[in-house]
Formats: sequence, structure tokens, C-alpha cells
Amino acid sequence: MAYQICINPDCGCKYEIDQVLHSCSVCGELLDVDYEWDSLPVPDSLTYFERYRLNSSGRIRNFSGVWRYYDLLPFLPTEKIVSIGEGRTILQDAKFVSSFVGVNSGRFFLQYEGLNPSGSFKDNGMTAAFTHGSFVGAKQAACASTGNTSASLAIYAAVTRLMEAVVFIGSGKIAYGKLSQALDYGAKTIQIQGDFDDALSRVRQIAKEAGIYLVNSINPFRLEGQKTIMFRVIDDLRWQIPDWIVVPGGNLGNAAAFGKAFIELHKLKLIDKIPQIAIINSTGANTLYQLYGKGESGKLRWNGGHYDKTMVKNFYDKMTNESRKAHTIASAIEINRPANLPKALRTLEFCNGVVREVTDQEILDAKAIIGAGGLGCEPASAASVAGAKKLVEEGIIDKEQLTVCILTGHQLKDPNATIAYHGTDQNFFQETLGKFNIKSAQHANRPITTPNVQNEILKFL
Ligand code: F0G
Repeated sequence: MAYQICINPDCGCKYEIDQVLHSCSVCGELLDVDYEWDSLPVPDSLTYFERYRLNSSGRIRNFSGVWRYYDLLPFLPTEKIVSIGEGRTILQDAKFVSSFVGVNSGRFFLQYEGLNPSGSFKDNGMTAAFTHGSFVGAKQAACASTGNTSASLAIYAAVTRLMEAVVFIGSGKIAYGKLSQALDYGAKTIQIQGDFDDALSRVRQIAKEAGIYLVNSINPFRLEGQKTIMFRVIDDLRWQIPDWIVVPGGNLGNAAAFGKAFIELHKLKLIDKIPQIAIINSTGANTLYQLYGKGESGKLRWNGGHYDKTMVKNFYDKMTNESRKAHTIASAIEINRPANLPKALRTLEFCNGVVREVTDQEILDAKAIIGAGGLGCEPASAASVAGAKKLVEEGIIDKEQLTVCILTGHQLKDPNATIAYHGTDQNFFQETLGKFNIKSAQHANRPITTPNVQNEILKFL
């Protein structure tokens, strides 16, 4: 009923659900999990899922905000599910942030994925990867990470004890909040010289040779879990489909999963409108933006699966020759070789998408506004809001359009970026932000230093 299938339409090789693969053995392209929907009990309306609203009954569909939509990702029987209560996240009507972005109040929402057990959206995918990994009997699970995947893998390993966690990170490349999680939860943490791109290529090799289960987003089961972020968004909108979904782009797993979610909902006749998607790169890690462009023709397109692989190869070769490395304060998306690039192109085609880049300055300014609105996030997440603002300024997003930005990770993930921006220590500002060409902090909320004398203090109140 469920199987894996190569996304290359000229190949289309199928694999059983219990096979552990990172790509098609025949052509090397990415894999999807797919379903024989006709033989499955698919609900005829999305309102069906309302009976599984979250509560503490202990039933898996009421416990997990991922598995309440089980019928849309039924790759294994429910009794095989491994869950720690992920996906209990909410869509917030972000009135304060809406005026910054330029969308009318009541039409702008933030999907706050920082509320997951490990503080980022990754848990949506990790529950699905853990479900599959433990089903196939894996004893160790590994990932390369800019920090959040490792935190997520570490928490699932620590809570369930089903697999041992091994995380590969670029040395000095991940924010302290995330590193502290991997260490605290007991993951075997391997720091290698290099960045995420180096770590991912290394761990792919090692996982294959040592038979370790890989939980990066090239694992198609992980992306099944991440589809549910979109299900929760439209559930909270009482099944309205937004005009725009805006998401930061790093390894492009979310971009891949969100598109698949809408492709399937449409195929199953559960929706008739398709939202537009905007994927936002940081200028310091902008491979997708460079390749896809601002929307003019002649650039890289999915083209029904026949995308221009030579264009991608030439671009990657050029980066290698120039020793070009990703470099951004948004360390979560400091990635130059996004593993899910083809699937993101598929999403862009289906969802009539656009790609933009935003500077680190724009990211941190947006982050401060998001924080001041009460829903703090880490820098990478703020790229979505900075990108939405840009698209409104360009007239691509209209101020009346229903717009949802995904806040992918919690504010506490990267305290250094926040303190450097708001704080008064110029040395710390320079050390932390100077190298990313951040020059100002126009939305800073500066701490006030004063002698501990009542009258002095009262002057500030
Ligand atoms: N936002 C945050 C907070 C992330 O941690 C990531 C990715 C992204 C956005 C980008 O998402 O890869 O689906 O495009 N973090 C990965 C990690 C790469 O290792 O934690 P994507």
C-alpha cells in the first residue's frame, strides 16, 4: 500500500517500504514515499481530522500533531509509530508583525514551530524517520546538521532509547542552544572540520558503509512527517488555503515536503485551491536563488522532472573551483548544496512559487520585530518574514492576501545573535555580527545600566 519511488519520471523505480535507501539505486535521484491511495481509507473531507484534536487521552492521533493526520501518511500501521508528542504547534495571528511586513492585520499569520519538543520543526520529520528506522531494526541513527536536526535526533534517541544518536556538525558552525541540546541529551557528537555541506557528504558515505540509519531530509520518510506542518496551518485556518506560504530555504526539506502535501491533497480532491510558495534564501547561502532566479524564463525549472542537471553541476563545480562557502548569521540555513533541490523545484512548479534572498541585516531586523511581537525565533526563521516584507514591497504579495510565514526554530536556539543585536557591548556585536556585514540594530531593545539607587532607577521608568 505504501512504497518508495524515484522522483525522476524517466526512471520511476519502485522500492519496498522496508528498504533503507538515500537515493534511487538506478539513477541516483531522490526518492518519495508514495501510496496506493485507491486501496486506502482516505477521508472525503478535511473536517474528518477535527475528531483528532489534540488532548491528553494517550491515543496517538490525539497525542501527536503529526499523527493526527495519519491517513495522509500511512506508511506503517499505527502501532509502529514512535512519537514524543511533536507537532503540538499553533498558527498565530501576528498583528504586530503584519504591519512591519505590510500585510493587513488579520491576514498575516506565523506558524510557530519553535514549540516542538526540541524547539524546531525538525521533530515533525524525526518522528516519521524514527518510526521507519525502528521498524527496519536500526540500532544507530546519524545526521549531519546545522544544529536543529541534531537536537531533534538527540531528543528522540534519549526519550525512546530505540536508536543511538550520532551527530556530525561543522566545527564552530552551530549555535550554542542547539549544541547544548545534542550534548545534554547524550548524543555522540562528532565535530568535523568544515561546514554542513562537508558534514552531509561525509555522513552519507559513513551511513552507507557502516549501516547507520540516516535521518537527514534526503530520507523520504522524514519529509512525510514535515507535510503535516501544512495540514496544521490549514486546520487552524478552518481549512482555508492561504494565498502565500513563506518558508526559509536551507537544505530545502520543508520546501519539498510542503509541495508534496499540496500535490497529494489536490490529487485526493481534498482541496481545490493551491497556495503560492515563497522560498527565502539568505544572500550568504543563495544557491536556489541563483539557480531559480527571480522568475524570468531560461533559469532552472522542474520542467515536469526534466530539469537541467548540467546547469546544477556547472554551478556546483564553479563553487568548488572558487572555494565558495556558505556564510550567514542564519546558521541553520548556511548551506550551499541543498540536497532537496530537485524536490524544491517540483514544489515551485506546482505552487507557482517564487524565490528571494534577504541579507543578514534584513534577517536580524525582522527577527527583532518578531521577538517584539512575542514569538521569538532564531535568525533563519526570520528570513521568512524578511522575505515576505520584500515581496510585499515588490507588489508580489498583495496586502489583502492571506499570508503564512513559517517560524522554523525557537528564539532560545541562538542567544548570541539576539544578545549581540540588542546588547550594548560593541566588541561582542563586532565579534558576533560584524563578520556578516551587520552594521546596525535599528530595532534593538537596549538593556539599561544604572547604579542600584532608587531615584536613579525611577528616572528610567
Ligand atoms: N530553519 C531552521 C531553524 C532550520 O534548522 C533549518 C534547517 C531550516 C530553516 C531550513 O530548512 O533544510 O528544510 O530548507 N536546518 C537543518 C539542520 C539543515 O541541520 O538542522 P530546510
